[in-house]
Amino acid sequence: SQTEKELLYKIHEIANDFFQDQMFETEEGKTIAYSYFKERELRDEIIRKFQLGYAPEQKDAFTEFALEKGYSKDILEKSGLSIFPENAPRGIDRFRERVIFPIHSFSGRVLGFGARILRNNVKTAKYLNSPETEIYHKSQVLYGLNQGKQAISKNNLCLLVEGYMDVIALHQSGIENVVSSSGTALTVEQIKLIKRLTENVTILFDGDAPGIKASFRSIDMLLSESMNIRILLFPDGDDPDSFSRKHPQEYVENFIKNEAKDFIDFKAEILLKDAGSDPIRKAEAIRDIVKSVAFVQNALKQEVYLKEVSNKFGLSEQSLFNELNVQKQLQK
Ligand code: GTP
Ligand code: MN
Ligand code: MN
Ligand code: MN
Ligand code: MN
Repeated sequence: SQTEKELLYKIHEIANDFFQDQMFETEEGKTIAYSYFKERELRDEIIRKFQLGYAPEQKDAFTEFALEKGYSKDILEKSGLSIFPENAPRGIDRFRERVIFPIHSFSGRVLGFGARILRNNVKTAKYLNSPETEIYHKSQVLYGLNQGKQAISKNNLCLLVEGYMDVIALHQSGIENVVSSSGTALTVEQIKLIKRLTENVTILFDGDAPGIKASFRSIDMLLSESMNIRILLFPDGDDPDSFSRKHPQEYVENFIKNEAKDFIDFKAEILLKDAGSDPIRKAEAIRDIVKSVAFVQNALKQEVYLKEVSNKFGLSEQSLFNELNVQKQLQK
């Protein structure tokens, strides 16, 4: 209901202040969380800009704080911020001993949180996110959109990265036209959010196996929504966060500008890398590329792309066109 939604917005605002206070105003927060972000080379202004915070070790710190403020168990549970296991009927916090990344709506309201463990070797999920609630629908939110929307419009380009820290680190190096789907597969609703600002997207994913897989999926999604795309995977285990801390802004900007490829060159490079001269593997690679071309929404663009494939592989346009039609049928 409407009043329940308002309460959920309110409790997220309060939680957001609470997590920031915990980081800046407590010894535990300063020594554990603030120093964590400092180790990751974030400057104070950027920590403030993204309203980063800390959920303390005490298992009911926020729940008790909110109960004392008069919030009900019911709304705490619906917010996803507290959980109520049988052995702790007063409730405990979902996020404990983690650094906090608030997730904002397009217009800047806090809808939920991402939370990262402080040490990589802990045997629990590295990131924990808010569950789906009445105000947080992860398929409809892009991390960084609120902070980046002006730069996306101004540059007429949206950079798409994998993670929270990638968005934040790029901002710190002066590149603000960036969003992340935060580890979940890109959705049509998310693409439509970008499309309000620009039709141009450059995918900047990690150069590991999950990054490649996600980039292939995102390419087809974005083409289906008539977006113009380029793709760049970072080398040698880098992601935009680590890369942008190793190089100055201008170098990063030029690297993105010069190294991002169109989807045909990108897919060809990856698919042919281990195909060698095996004709079957090569045919599979070409079919995979034509499959992506079949997602292009405009017939003229489709033809231009097919010509590119034809030139690249020395195949007749006719046989590629036949394959394109097969793939289009399969997509229906
Ligand atoms: P850092 O180690 O903090 O630099 O994170 P990262 O963003 O580089 O992590 P990675 O490349 O492994 O993952 C990319 C994104 O996927 C993260 O920013 C998260 O949004 C998400 N993600 C990663 N690990 C998990 C996980 O264990 N659970 C969930 N729900 N999401 C995850
Ligand atoms: Mn809703
Ligand atoms: Mn990765
Ligand atoms: Mn990464
Ligand atoms: Mn990273």
